[in-house]
Amino acid sequence: MKSFPYPILLPLLLLMSCVWGKCIFDEVQSSVRVLSSPDNQPNPSDWSFRDGDATEQEDWLTNAQIQKHQNDILQYSPTQRFKRAVQDRIKVIDKPQPIRIKTWTPRESPVLSLWETERLEAAVSHAISTVSKLIAVRRVSRKLLLNRDINKYCRFIWRNSTSANFNRCGRASANYRTESCLGVIIPDDHLSGCVVYPHPDQPDLKVIKPDGAGLPDTDVLLYVKAQNSDKCRADSSLLAYSAHCQSDSEGRPVAGVMVICREPLSMEGFSHEHMLQTVIHELLHVLGFSKELFSKWTDRSLSSQMDKDSSHGQVIYTDESGQMRLYTPNINKALQTHLNSTHTELGAPLENQDADTRGFSSHWEARVLQGSIMTAMLAEPTLVQIDVITLSAFQDTGWYSVNLSQAQNLLWGENEGTLFGSVSTCNRSSSFFCTGSGFGCHYLHLHKGVCQSDEYLEGCRIYKPLANGSECWKEENETGSGPEVWSGEIFHSDSRCFLSNIIRKDHFSLNTSVSGRCYRHRCTGSNRYQIQVVGSDWLDCPPGRSIKVFGYRGAVFCPDKRLCHYHGIVPPTSLYKPFPLLLTAVPSRDQSLTQRPITDLRFEALSFSEMGVKTVVGVSAVLFFLGSFMTIYRKCCPSRLRVHALEHSPYALQV
Ligand SMILES: *[C@@H]1O[C@H](CO)[C@@H](O)[C@H](O)[C@H]1NC(C)=O
Ligand SMILES: *[C@@H]1O[C@H](CO)[C@@H](O)[C@H](O)[C@H]1NC(C)=O
Ligand SMILES: *[C@@H]1O[C@H](CO)[C@@H](O)[C@H](O)[C@H]1NC(C)=O
Ligand SMILES: *[C@@H]1O[C@H](CO)[C@@H](O)[C@H](O)[C@H]1NC(C)=O
Ligand SMILES: *[C@@H]1O[C@H](CO)[C@@H](O)[C@H](O)[C@H]1NC(C)=O
Ligand SMILES: [Zn+2]
Repeated sequence: MKSFPYPILLPLLLLMSCVWGKCIFDEVQSSVRVLSSPDNQPNPSDWSFRDGDATEQEDWLTNAQIQKHQNDILQYSPTQRFKRAVQDRIKVIDKPQPIRIKTWTPRESPVLSLWETERLEAAVSHAISTVSKLIAVRRVSRKLLLNRDINKYCRFIWRNSTSANFNRCGRASANYRTESCLGVIIPDDHLSGCVVYPHPDQPDLKVIKPDGAGLPDTDVLLYVKAQNSDKCRADSSLLAYSAHCQSDSEGRPVAGVMVICREPLSMEGFSHEHMLQTVIHELLHVLGFSKELFSKWTDRSLSSQMDKDSSHGQVIYTDESGQMRLYTPNINKALQTHLNSTHTELGAPLENQDADTRGFSSHWEARVLQGSIMTAMLAEPTLVQIDVITLSAFQDTGWYSVNLSQAQNLLWGENEGTLFGSVSTCNRSSSFFCTGSGFGCHYLHLHKGVCQSDEYLEGCRIYKPLANGSECWKEENETGSGPEVWSGEIFHSDSRCFLSNIIRKDHFSLNTSVSGRCYRHRCTGSNRYQIQVVGSDWLDCPPGRSIKVFGYRGAVFCPDKRLCHYHGIVPPTSLYKPFPLLLTAVPSRDQSLTQRPITDLRFEALSFSEMGVKTVVGVSAVLFFLGSFMTIYRKCCPSRLRVHALEHSPYALQV
């Protein structure tokens, strides 16, 4: 009975565009009580010369520099002098360095198969290395130790403000065990100790838990666990979710959890690129792109904050059209440049779907920043960028320093002006938005597309790639039948999508409607290119104009500032790198990039001979998998649809 709908449903599903998992970060984060450092003042040790290894101190001042610096300072008023001094110290002494994100596998995580582990570690370590190339931080100078929640370990706190032990713990709570974060139990080793002061005024103290060893060389600790959790089961398109759990004295997140859904991890159609993209997105949430933290962002950039007091506080306002926007200096600047707007205080619009009562979520508005890594629903990875507006946001947190020149180009909305992407203007057909439900080209022209809306577009419609067969650059998409033959289509690694209605003169029908078609292209300059259709020469295709092709009726439209415009927009060069650590995988399990300590019980439990067996089994499984993979991957996102179908009815597809 169950198998009945599939023959009908499947073609319908395949016509729809790829839909990847929604991000549930806000929902998850709101369930977590974030523990901030007990000390709300900036920790003096963060601001002073660090003791410790001199090798890190490449920026020590020479005596001459100090002398010059002091002479300079004397020209300012006392307050200015103080600020200069502090700023210069931050600038020179605590020069931000690439953020060190360490991962930790909680003991209670399920034991994964070899290839699940490989996939997980490949995605997570790749994401971490990507992010740490983009984001720098004033490093944690000693070992990272997380805090214990005084409200948990303490039964009562001295509240008499005149007593010497004011605000300290007076009695330990008998039930206290340890701290946890999104269900992960934090090892004592990662936690600072706790003490009680039995008398309000006497210095005697009793140690309840000693300080843990802490984590060296760590700025952020990420507990990563693969699990088939309730949330994963509730939405089978979910790949991962996360939250941060602790922040330092300046409010910067220092510990969080990332849950990777286990089912997608073990699926035959697993895509490293998709998992990687999701992990990067979630990691950026953990590091501070969170609506719970927007108000804690501070622009500590040295120039703009000299005399402003309002460095903390409100950064979100509603614009005239009711859109919530995030206003911080670098975001304003980046968006102004991106849209070529005359507004200096544009503010980046926040997603209003999936919002709470405040009306915004921890994502960019999809209509305006389609294609950015921080929109709520991500397209396939080739079409998603780590854009300058997102990186500017990180700069404006005040915790990080970001090299904005490393941003990937966001073509969506470029130079389209202040009103771009508003609900009132998107119904005009443009090179970004479409009307109706016809076929055309995705705006990056790597794919054919169908004009569609989704829940985040609020009625605006865009060309989205079809679920399969829409990549112009995939030779396998050539079927050798149907319209592609008489419209001269060529599927090739250098083919791109063009709006076209050309039809071979010898074909019986007189004309055909305009649709997205794949033709080869080659660059002849910046925003200059030639195209080739079946049987034609290379033809100049002047951007913004249409051309005729010998032997065909109709015309091909040449898009402006889309092709040969940016370097980064190319088809994936290698389809998939599933097992980068393939053959060294098992023996080096403990030294994988995550620096999991050797005391990991699950690791110790694996005896040497077992390891040998597992290696053999694992490697042959992997080789088998690699072989079968190439056939599977060809179907872009439908792997999920396929597996869906298979889940419910394994036989329906074969019949
Ligand atoms: C607070 O402590 C001081 C001295 O330790 C004591 O004199 C005073 O009565 C206490 N106040 C209260 C409200 O308990
Ligand atoms: C930006 O806008 C100005 C004036 O509105 C216009 O002259 C200029 O050509 C635009 N730049 C680009 C790159 O579109
Ligand atoms: C920023 O990145 C660019 C390109 O990767 C690099 O050339 C430049 O040196 C970087 N700047 C800094 C200050 O790190
Ligand atoms: C677009 O929508 C606005 C209001 O939402 C309406 O006033 C306008 O007429 C529409 N334009 C077109 C071309 O449909
Ligand atoms: C799309 O997928 C279906 C079913 O998986 C397959 O039969 C068809 O050939 C695919 N189309 C293209 C163009 O690859
Ligand atoms: Zn998200």
